[in-house]
Amino acid sequence: MSTVAPTQSPSQTSTQWWRNAVIYQIYPRSFADGNGDGIGDLPGITHRLEHVAALGVDAVWLSPFYVSPQHDAGYDVADFRDVDPVFGNLDDADALIARAHELGLKVIVDMVPNHVSSEHVWFKEAKAAPEDSPARHRFIYRDGRGENGSEPPNNWTSVFGGPAWTRETRPDGTLGQWYLHLFDSTQPDLNWSHPDVQNDFDDILRFWLDRGVNGFRVDVAHGLIKEEGLPDHFPKEGGGSMGGEEFHATPYFGQEGVHEVWRRWRTILDSYGPDRILVAEAWVYPLTRMANWVRPDEMHQAFNFPYLETPWNADRQRTMITESLAAFGGVGAPSTWVLSNHDVVRHASRLALTAENPQGHGIGPNSPGLPIADLGLKRARAATLMMLALPGSAYIYQGEELGLPEHVYIPDDARQDPTWFRTNKERYGRDGCRVPLPWEAAAPAYGFNDTGASWLPQPDGWAGLARDVQSADPTSTLALYKAAIRTRREHSLGDGSLEWLDLGEGVLAFDNGDVRVIANVSGAPVRIDGQVLVASGPVSDVVEPDTTVWLAR
Ligand code: GLC
Repeated sequence: MSTVAPTQSPSQTSTQWWRNAVIYQIYPRSFADGNGDGIGDLPGITHRLEHVAALGVDAVWLSPFYVSPQHDAGYDVADFRDVDPVFGNLDDADALIARAHELGLKVIVDMVPNHVSSEHVWFKEAKAAPEDSPARHRFIYRDGRGENGSEPPNNWTSVFGGPAWTRETRPDGTLGQWYLHLFDSTQPDLNWSHPDVQNDFDDILRFWLDRGVNGFRVDVAHGLIKEEGLPDHFPKEGGGSMGGEEFHATPYFGQEGVHEVWRRWRTILDSYGPDRILVAEAWVYPLTRMANWVRPDEMHQAFNFPYLETPWNADRQRTMITESLAAFGGVGAPSTWVLSNHDVVRHASRLALTAENPQGHGIGPNSPGLPIADLGLKRARAATLMMLALPGSAYIYQGEELGLPEHVYIPDDARQDPTWFRTNKERYGRDGCRVPLPWEAAAPAYGFNDTGASWLPQPDGWAGLARDVQSADPTSTLALYKAAIRTRREHSLGDGSLEWLDLGEGVLAFDNGDVRVIANVSGAPVRIDGQVLVASGPVSDVVEPDTTVWLAR
């Protein structure tokens, strides 16, 4: 018995490039370090960009490189219109954009509207201003509860752990009001009903669109608007730091008012032509609700986190894929697919974890259920090959094309994620997926730079994963990504539609155009018949467990 999943709208013209695109996430701190200070930078990226183009991807998305004290690795922005000296300057950004375009890559930059850095000029003004002054209305200040206002205004907790409120110390040394920060205390939330906030972001978008960027990945696109009256919130256990399934009832995420902001932004993007896009980071459940972020007059895409969180189980995968195509297709948007990013345990480790691991908690030496590396990599290769066969747009995160695992054994004193500190070292956080990339097996810092410095220590034993080693090996993970992306394009899989096949329990199988895709998620080999186009592991007339194969039909 086979089920036909809803068909995606095909890309009609190249202006709709994003509908079937493969987009590569660059995390600037960890991609390539041009000046040798141990932190990656824009010249480093520009220098190495041809390797990204060689993968065959359509676009890059860059995590923030704006002026920032780097308390949350650049997601705490002090000035959106300039580049942090750690990453270079505006000329370097222009050079990067120009080089990307020369290589045929679109450029998406990160936009962070929910909060700014406490070093932002607005927050400095707010801190210095008397209680009721307009400068403070751009943020969310409230009186405390309890005696002398000594308790936070409500019970909300920060995504990174601890309270979501910090009490200010007035310039005269006395204690004052509290300000809201859904993330670190150095990331005060903006008040999105304030016209200054709305207008300034309009200008910031134009600033970067004028410099030639092709779109924005919008950080915390489910935040921004808070429920009137800021009521207490009682989340369910185990929902993960972004809220998990109880999300719909959260008074600070997924509020209706955010859609007005996206419509406003969409108008600005459209005024630059139909090929500039908005991509939502919206941790909203279920998918039918997330689809509201990509209605025709809002964003173009939203990261499909429910798919990322789906375990390596055939039934669960099949259900999630079918639901994704239906939910996004229902509003005329392509589905996206993503397995890794800078906030989650890398899928080469995650898919072999044997204990629950809520998003954002990370893994370290004392975590339960640590993965077996070989199994994780095998599954990651299989999962990626499954993902790249799906209709819609796929995101890949730097380093996954090398099969990098999570770095579990970062020494405690080298960890930097605010999550680690705000939970009193209870949650490891996200450092393990942010370790600088290995480029050359025999070079200092594996070629990340030529000094050997590295803002997070790289593990011993990554030489075999270095890009130069993998480039020379046709069975490497790098070779698999290149072959899959090439074949996906040749067979227009991103524009295709999907017909499920029933090949037995634990087997995920479908036809997409002239390609048959079989992922063996069972424990026993599965017989196959046909010409192999790409395979995630060795195949003969059978596919081994935890292996995906694409066959010509
Ligand atoms: C998003 C980013 C994450 C950051 C947070 C606060 O979730 O992806 O890295 O810490 O927003 O800006």
